[in-house]
Amino acid sequence: MDKFVITGCNKLYGSVDISGAKNSAVAILPAALMVSGICRIENVPDIQDVRVIFELIKHFGAKIAKIDAHTYDIDSTNLTYDAAPYELACKLRASYYFIGALLGRFNKAEVPMPGGCNFGVRPIDQHIKGFKLLGADVDLNHGVISAHADSLKGGNVFLDMVSVGATINIMISATRAEGITVIENAAKEPHVVDVANFLNSMGANIRGAGTDVIKIKGVQELHSGTYSIIPDQIEAGTFMIAASCVGGDVVIKNIIPRHLEPITAKLLETGTEVEEFDDSIRVRRLSTLTSTNVKTLVYPGFPTDLQPLATTLLTIAEGNSKVTESVWENRFQYIDELRRMGADINVEGKTANIKGVEQLMGTHVEATDLRAGAALVIAGLMAKGVTEVHNIIYIDRGYESIESKFNGLGANIVRMTDN
Ligand code: UD1
Repeated sequence: MDKFVITGCNKLYGSVDISGAKNSAVAILPAALMVSGICRIENVPDIQDVRVIFELIKHFGAKIAKIDAHTYDIDSTNLTYDAAPYELACKLRASYYFIGALLGRFNKAEVPMPGGCNFGVRPIDQHIKGFKLLGADVDLNHGVISAHADSLKGGNVFLDMVSVGATINIMISATRAEGITVIENAAKEPHVVDVANFLNSMGANIRGAGTDVIKIKGVQELHSGTYSIIPDQIEAGTFMIAASCVGGDVVIKNIIPRHLEPITAKLLETGTEVEEFDDSIRVRRLSTLTSTNVKTLVYPGFPTDLQPLATTLLTIAEGNSKVTESVWENRFQYIDELRRMGADINVEGKTANIKGVEQLMGTHVEATDLRAGAALVIAGLMAKGVTEVHNIIYIDRGYESIESKFNGLGANIVRMTDN
C-alpha cells in the first residue's frame, strides 16, 4: 500500500492543468456501450476508477484503443451480454451506470450493488424507480440488481430527491427507449450536462440537461462520433482551495470558471484573491484567512465533494466557522484525522464547528475516502513538519498524478510504499 510523505509549509507558485472530469468519465464510458460503432473520447482522466471502468467495458466485448495519453476509441459494435463481474463492479460507486447502459443496449442487466466511498447509507432507489417507470422489472437479490424489459418505453419520472446518479442513469437508459421520457427534479451538475452532450453527439435527442426538467426522445440507434470530456470541477476546486490553504499564487488552467463560482465565492469571503479568465483562474492568498460558513448543496451550490477541503481551509481561518453537510448522511469521518494534526473541530449532527488555530502540525493520518484523502494531503502541505498520509489508494481513484501536480507548484510530496 502506498503512502504520501509530505513536508509542509512550502507556498504554492505556478500553474497546474486540470484533467477531465472523473464523474463524467465514469458515466460516459459505460454509456459508450449503447453506441453501435466507435466513440472517440478525449480528455479521459488517467485515474484508477477509469481503469476499473475500462476493465468492465472490455468484459462486455468492447474494444479499447489508446490514441494518446487521454484519448481512447471505444468500439462497441459487437458486444456480448453478460452479468457485470462482482470483483470489478464492487470497486466503485459508478458501476451503477452499467445498469442503465446494459438495459439500454440489451434490455437487461445484472450488476452487483455498487461500492465506492462510504458516506453512510447510499441507496439507489431513485435509479430503480426510474427503470421501472420505463417498463423494466427490477429485483435486488443477494446484493445483485437484475433488470429486464421486453422493450423500454418512455415515461415520466419525478425524482423524490435530486440525485446526480439517478438523473444520468435514467437519461442513459431512456436514450434508446420508445417514445418520450421526462425526468423532473433532475440534477443540474455539470457532468449531467456533459453526459447528455456526449449522448447527443452520438445521435441521441436529449433536451433540458442543466435544468431540472430533462426530456429524452428515444432514438433507434446511436452512431459513432468524437467527444471531449469537460474539465473536472472538483479537481479544479481542490487546487483552488489548496492555493488558499497553503498560500502563494497559482493559476489553475483548463477549467470552466462558471462551474467554480460557489468555490470562488467562498474563497473571496475568506480574504483570498480570485481572478477569473476565459479558461483559467488565478488564486492568491497573501494574508490571514477570515472565518466563514459553508453549506453543501446540489449544483449550483457548494459541492459536497469539496466539503472536507473547505473544512481543512477553515481550520486556520481566524475566528469561528461552520461547515454543514446537507447531501450525505455521514461525511465527517476525516475530522478525527484533522484533529490529530491540531485542528479544533467539534461535530454536532451535520455541522462541523471550527475554531481557527494558528497552524496544523504534521503527523500520521489515514485517508478515509477519496476527497477526505485530498483534504489530508492539503493539510499536510499546510502543516509544520512531516505528514504521512496512508491509504492513498482512495486518492488514486479520482486524482490524476496529484503529487506531481502539487510538486510542480513547489510542494514536497513523496510517494512511498507503506510497509
Ligand atoms: C455523485 C458523485 C459524488 C457526489 C454526489 C453528490 C459520481 C460517480 N459521484 O454521487 O461524488 O458526492 O453525486 O454530488 O458522480 N439518494 C437516494 N436515493 C437514490 C440516489 C440518491 O436517497 O436513489 C440520496 C443519497 O443518499 C444522497 C443524495 O441522494 O443523500 C445525493 O446522491 P446522488 O446525487 O445520487 O449521488 P451519487 O450520484 O451517488
